[in-house]
Amino acid sequence: MILITGATGEYGKVVINNLVEKGVNTNEIIALVRDLKKASDLKEKGIELRVGNYNDYDSLLTAFYGVDKLLFVSGSEVENREQQHRNVVNAAKESNIDYVVYTSFLQNIPVQDSAISFLQASHMKTENWIKESGISYTILRNSTYMDMIPMFIGESVLQTGIISLPAGEGKSSSVLREELAEAAANILTSSGHKNKVYSLANNESLSYSDIAKEISNITGQEISYHSPAPDEFTNQLKKYNVPDEYIHLLTAFSLAQAKGELELKDLTLEKILGRKPYTVKEFLVSIYG
Ligand SMILES: NC(=O)c1ccc[n+]([C@@H]2O[C@H](COP(=O)([O-])OP(=O)(O)OC[C@H]3O[C@@H](n4cnc5c(N)ncnc54)[C@H](OP(=O)(O)O)[C@@H]3O)[C@@H](O)[C@H]2O)c1
Repeated sequence: MILITGATGEYGKVVINNLVEKGVNTNEIIALVRDLKKASDLKEKGIELRVGNYNDYDSLLTAFYGVDKLLFVSGSEVENREQQHRNVVNAAKESNIDYVVYTSFLQNIPVQDSAISFLQASHMKTENWIKESGISYTILRNSTYMDMIPMFIGESVLQTGIISLPAGEGKSSSVLREELAEAAANILTSSGHKNKVYSLANNESLSYSDIAKEISNITGQEISYHSPAPDEFTNQLKKYNVPDEYIHLLTAFSLAQAKGELELKDLTLEKILGRKPYTVKEFLVSIYG
């Protein structure tokens, strides 16, 4: 039995669809959900639902009963994530799960130097807990989701004509979330991936200057890119009453990009997908074309 956590999330849902498309019988898939109401589509597919929460160790032990393979989708509540992930790894060990696939994040500089260390630290700890548990594993170090580009550059970019982010000329090798999910399904249904750490990146990396040029080409409208100092950027957003949490996230990811943390040249994803990943250019055409 394969159990997918985060099954009601954007990534988990696509993994399950891919598993079914690859011929995995729905009665061999279990979805871990927090809220049954959010999982009616999974139930209709014939997938067993088990209720569990990363905060509740006993719920995880109950949910993991009889599971051989676990796709552990990292939690989305950053402040509680360390304890939550500890619970998942400990429960997997206690439940004698054979194999864990974990969604981590691209890492190409030491955590202590990272502009997004508040996210990276829990990923690194979780990777180590999994390795130390003795359970076979595959760590998927996912790149940033390409799907988030419109949110980063601003939903009104075509009205303002400006992309303003403190990312300098740093690049990102971002990948469509669906393709990262497809890669996970491929790994769960094929052999040769045990005890491997895969960095899943696109074949090309783009800066926000590149993105501005691409959108200009697509729309025929001039879009420029400006990289303000982080303080200037924060003050600009505060003037527009953007919530602090959101400002922190946008600033931290931009600074990580400026430092080169979001860029990696690696063809592992292409190998796992069996084709070249969807490009940012294709994505921008789908959004702005
Ligand atoms: N690589 C990237 O650029 C990137 C970007 C964003 C996020 N991520 C990471 O990748 C993960 C998956 O992405 P996504 O787009 O699918 O995110 P998402 O749509 O927010 O889904 C997160 C999933 O995790 C579940 N979850 C959250 N906290 C939980 C808890 N305490 N116990 C049990 N389940 C819990 C959520 O359940 P509910 O449906 O009940 O909320 C949801 O199913 C995220 O959680 C985050 O760690 C990566």
